[in-house]
Amino acid sequence: MVKSVGVAILAAGEGKRMGLEVPKPLAPAMGRTLLDFVLDGIQSFSNELKLKNKIVAIVGHKKEMIEAYLQDFPAIMFAHQQKQLGTADALKSYFNSDESLKQTEYTLVICADTPLIRKEHLLTLINQMKKNAADAVVASFTENSNHSYGRIVRGPKGLKIIEAKDATSEIKKINEVNSGLYIFKTEYILKYLFNINSNNAANEFYLTDVFDFERNVEAVHFEDGYKFMGVNDLSQLEIVESYLRKEKCDQLKSHGVRFIDSTSVYIDWNCNIGTGSVIYPNVHIRNNCTIGSNVTIDVGNIIEKSCIKDGVSIKPYCHIDDAIIHKQASIGPYARLRPKADIGEKSKIGNFVEIKKAKLHNDVKISHLSYIGDAEIGENSNIGCGFITCNYDGANKHFTKIGKNCFIGSDSQAIAPIEIGDRCFVASGTTITKSMPDDSFAIARSKQTTKNGLASRFLK
Ligand code: UD1
Ligand code: MG
Repeated sequence: MVKSVGVAILAAGEGKRMGLEVPKPLAPAMGRTLLDFVLDGIQSFSNELKLKNKIVAIVGHKKEMIEAYLQDFPAIMFAHQQKQLGTADALKSYFNSDESLKQTEYTLVICADTPLIRKEHLLTLINQMKKNAADAVVASFTENSNHSYGRIVRGPKGLKIIEAKDATSEIKKINEVNSGLYIFKTEYILKYLFNINSNNAANEFYLTDVFDFERNVEAVHFEDGYKFMGVNDLSQLEIVESYLRKEKCDQLKSHGVRFIDSTSVYIDWNCNIGTGSVIYPNVHIRNNCTIGSNVTIDVGNIIEKSCIKDGVSIKPYCHIDDAIIHKQASIGPYARLRPKADIGEKSKIGNFVEIKKAKLHNDVKISHLSYIGDAEIGENSNIGCGFITCNYDGANKHFTKIGKNCFIGSDSQAIAPIEIGDRCFVASGTTITKSMPDDSFAIARSKQTTKNGLASRFLK
């Protein structure tokens, strides 16, 4: 039978220590936000158990930004917490936001700043809850360093959670702590939540007060405690991101991507790489890249927003941004592909070549030192060293079209707008100012004068 779970994402806090423009749930990690990871975990947990979910983000601080961000997730609802009076108060605003939340079977509470929690944690928690027919479960872990987590005080039956601020020195010695992740039977939480008071050191309404001795509540201890790490400042963000990075590379490895040293590689969460590809050290792959199978990405490459098809070879030190590279092309070393560079199959882009908004058909070769912008180059044309499309007249950009099977000699320029037909030959050192018909030859350079013996006048 399909059961229902209401999910309360605690996202109202100020996140003061982050010092970011965006509220903490929207802090960036691996090319997405902390909140995205939390949403993924919730979604895959509900899918796995075929639970009908109602997800509610409890927002307060900079709530407009969070709401705007979540517009793309229409199923997510919002609860407004006017004042941050504590985690229990946050959950009250959750239940007050929509009556139907009180009808769900379970209520899952998760913080928006814990991006390492996965569906496996949630499954363990709920399975334990079902197995022992508990009314509430909290995920706990062991923390030995100096910290401010709430302590889990286990009784013969039930448990209490004591906040660091309220703890005696004896209780402070307890190293089993509250992760802030809970699953409640909704009926249970409704029974106790609205009676919680704020008689404590922080004058806050503590959600943890719904746990008590003599109640049917449990703490489920997890060995991988670091997975519950919440992000409160930029140091913790950096640590969390390094864990996420490792997780990403491990996933890719399990799908047959080989790394020479994955600790030096930075791949955003939303980038994919196909089987048989090899990634060398110091490579950055960002912002929704799709990389095919058997691709080699050598040392020092930065690749963003791009699509790289099977069998492509990227030699060292290229910057590739918003480009498409078709099968078995070869790029670099030291090439720069700018937005809308579209490189055909088996084409070859060599060192110090810059390409912007240009379509290169198959088997085009541009091996050295060229700028190609606002252009199209036909199949099997060979562009010599140092060719430039002069696309900009100081006010507007103009288009250069070069046909197929052309040979463009070294150190030539094409002053756009211009069209060079198929099978044309441009002699080295030519500045093309007039369009060329198919099968034509062009040369435009001044005649050479050679004077025997005159060199000594100039050589010092
Ligand atoms: C809380 C737990 C503590 C646990 C720790 C784990 C309580 C009383 N204590 O403490 O036992 O070890 O988390 O990280 O719950 N929030 C709101 N509205 C509020 C207050 C908080 O939305 O009024 C949100 C925060 O944005 C945050 C989460 O709730 O995402 C936790 O609040 P926080 O103030 O960080 O609680 P801790 O003191 O860390
Ligand atoms: Mg906290």
